Amino acid sequence: LSRRPADLVIFGGTGDLAMRKLIPALQHCDRDGLLAPQTRIIAMSRSGLTDADFRGKVHAELAERGADLRDLGRFLGRLHHVSIDVSGDGGDARGWARVRGLLAGHEQRDRVFYLASPPMTFGPFCRELRLAGLVTPSSRVVLEKPLGRNLESARRINDEVGEIFSESQTFRIDHYLGKETVQNLLVLRFANAFLEPIWNSLWIDHVQITVAETVGTPGRRGYYDHAGAMRDMVQNHLLQLLCLVAMEPPSRNDREAIRDEKVKVLESLRPISGTEADRFTVRGQYTEGIAGDRRVPGYLDEPGSTPPTRASRQVETFAAIRAEVKNWRWAGVPFYLRTGKRMPTRCSEIVVQFKDVPHSIFPGGSPNKLVLRLQPSEGIQMHIMAKEPGAGEVALRPVPLELSFGKAFGGRVPDAYERLLMDVLAGNPTLFMRRDEVEAAWRWIDPILATWEATGTPPEPYPAGVAGPPGARELLGRSGRTWHEEL
Ligand code: BG6
Repeated sequence: LSRRPADLVIFGGTGDLAMRKLIPALQHCDRDGLLAPQTRIIAMSRSGLTDADFRGKVHAELAERGADLRDLGRFLGRLHHVSIDVSGDGGDARGWARVRGLLAGHEQRDRVFYLASPPMTFGPFCRELRLAGLVTPSSRVVLEKPLGRNLESARRINDEVGEIFSESQTFRIDHYLGKETVQNLLVLRFANAFLEPIWNSLWIDHVQITVAETVGTPGRRGYYDHAGAMRDMVQNHLLQLLCLVAMEPPSRNDREAIRDEKVKVLESLRPISGTEADRFTVRGQYTEGIAGDRRVPGYLDEPGSTPPTRASRQVETFAAIRAEVKNWRWAGVPFYLRTGKRMPTRCSEIVVQFKDVPHSIFPGGSPNKLVLRLQPSEGIQMHIMAKEPGAGEVALRPVPLELSFGKAFGGRVPDAYERLLMDVLAGNPTLFMRRDEVEAAWRWIDPILATWEATGTPPEPYPAGVAGPPGARELLGRSGRTWHEEL
């Protein structure tokens, strides 16, 4: 951790991500004493707010979220707001002058520019930063996902940003890498001896990676119509989880060693395109249904800033893929990925299903499963077979050996953004995506998206509140497998 004074400048500083995630995370860090006393947080947006207005807005937002407001005055004192409109041609000279004025005289501090804005703005913003003379040798830039829409746009953005910031100054964020259980996956695999000998195709039948959300996309049409579940979740969060499950042991716990191994996994993914996309991928879009105890609209009827278009009809709010890692360790082991909005429950988990015992002497056994639960309650379960108590015929039942992080360690589990923001301030890029990683992920995703787009058929409908379209079950059913739990 670094307690060096820093100026953290957030573009999109009053947007959804900043208000829901970044500011609350920074407030926690402040409460935990992780920020240097002089560290400032400078939000930039078009909203025309003064510092006082912005502080009031943050106060209200934190209060509404039920945040602990002790010492809030100290945190609010760190906040500044600069009104700037960078959408027009030629930039907003007065706005940039205000940012320069605020940063002037603080060139010795670490400077972090967090771009919580759409990816096409990354290149232009970075150029503006250089023109305004704001990029110092100790500056860093943070790029939110998804980085581009495909490999080509990702490369272009990386090139544009790369003209201003070196790779070591560039932090591509994927907040899943900041989640405690995700980091624990590396510890589980590489700090325990018992798993590694069986972590391969000899012992493992298949892996399931699920990120299911109950939320829909109200108010997000502008973004989601152009993203869909593949760009919003699979290209980044799910593939990152797959990498951590599948990677070879790195020789050191070091930024390059870990990221090198992750890239090798992405490069080993078997390409899926053409007719294979039909067999190995499923996409769905939710229609009206019941979520919890209320009726909710379908994707096309979600209240949003813009009415639905042709693109809206094609967009997937659910995706499932049967992926394969073509290397010695994983030959023949399917990795099933699935993610969706408006699922029956919120549940993110990785399930490693082992093979059956080679010879069973009991009726009714089922294979062992290791379940790594990311949310809602973070923990690890090993499903083992046990005998049901009682005389008579031996009856087997799978029971979980359970580790709950909450019970084992107590205390609050920090949000992923807290960890990642502190890593940016400390200049530690281990949990961030390197350029080649992001591009390798797009290289695998692109042909799937291209095939989907070429077919022109809309995604399979599924009512809100069910676990995706029928195709999702068939994807596993064809090989006699089932999803770990009916969601
Ligand atoms: C974001 C996606 O990256 O992750 C959202 O853009 C999604 O669509 C969110 O809801 C899920 O994050 P978490 O941490 O709530 O699982």
